[in-house]
Amino acid sequence: MARDADNTGDAGSSLFDETEDAGRASAGPGTPSAAREGGDVRVGGPAGGLAPAVASEKPVISCRGVTKVFGTQRVLSGLDLDVMPGETMVIMGGSGSGKSTTLRMMIGSFPPTEGTIELLGADICSMDEDALNDVRKKIGILFQSGALFNSMTVGENVALPLQEHTELDPETIDIMVKIKLELVGLREAENKFPAQISGGMKKRAGLARALALDPQILFYDEPSAGLDPVTSAQIDQLIVALSKQLGVTSVVVTHEMDSAFTIADRMAMLDKGKILAVESRQWYENLRDESDEQAGARSERERLIRQFLRGDPEGPITARQSADAYGEALFGAAGSDTLLPTRSVEPTR
Ligand SMILES: Nc1ncnc2c1ncn2[C@@H]1O[C@H](COP(=O)(O)OP(=O)(O)OP(=O)(O)O)[C@@H](O)[C@H]1O
Ligand SMILES: [Mg+2]
Repeated sequence: MARDADNTGDAGSSLFDETEDAGRASAGPGTPSAAREGGDVRVGGPAGGLAPAVASEKPVISCRGVTKVFGTQRVLSGLDLDVMPGETMVIMGGSGSGKSTTLRMMIGSFPPTEGTIELLGADICSMDEDALNDVRKKIGILFQSGALFNSMTVGENVALPLQEHTELDPETIDIMVKIKLELVGLREAENKFPAQISGGMKKRAGLARALALDPQILFYDEPSAGLDPVTSAQIDQLIVALSKQLGVTSVVVTHEMDSAFTIADRMAMLDKGKILAVESRQWYENLRDESDEQAGARSERERLIRQFLRGDPEGPITARQSADAYGEALFGAAGSDTLLPTRSVEPTR
């Protein structure tokens, strides 16, 4: 097959990157593990805390002490995060804070430098490639570009994981493709090629393919990036609807606050490669909506989160950027990067 996936995002180097293989990632039968629960049920503990509200539930994703170093740059430092069955966990943070790196390690694109990641109860860090591929068949991924094959129609793109990972006959596959396209509201585009559909439709098509074999976990990297506000809101609604209808667990990386507040059950805030908080959506809403006076009594960590949520021009993030710039002017950029947490760029929104 020609390597013609529509890779407008990051160049991927590994099997589970935004390459043609991303399209094959979403194969494998799976049963939604639990019904979606109320948005504010699972309230996390303190910064980086792990506090699943229902003790009997086991996390479907469990990260412990996850650190990632690229060359001399420490991108993630000691990340602890649990994602519970059926919930939608939003990972947010400024550009360069390590969101995509976290997601890519969760799907086994590359291993952490230190720490462990369990996916559906299995430690993916110690697995050989065959075992990893078996786990990967139970997850679906929507990359930023949709990563569709340009030489195949939308329907053929969605059929691909079914053809590669099942013994189903062509008639059954055809029916399943139509069902998946219906789920994402894209029946009419089945016979169109990626070049003939809009960015929002490509996202839907990528999602239909990610759903092809009923994954237990769906991963989204910036699902609304590059879309107009209305299309973006429609994709958000689709994510919520799929979560409710299928009971699928979702991990969504985004820095779009409107999206985050629409889709999240819980949210993890990343900053400079560290988790500042894992809390319910309601907790973040309360923090965002507090008056300046109320927020004055908050810790610096919480005021930093609040500035990010509100997109305020002034606050702890801005003060830190000025301090970083001063340090850089004194000591130089290269020295300041060496095995220090990576500098976080200001929130892009
Ligand atoms: N494969 C890689 N090799 C070297 N450095 C990398 C690699 N992947 C990411 N990085 C670096 O890690 C840091 C975090 O990148 P990451 O893509 O995780 O950020 P992000 O939070 O997703 O940002 P954005 O919101 O801009 O997508 C960046 O400084 C980036 O340059
Ligand atoms: Mg990213």
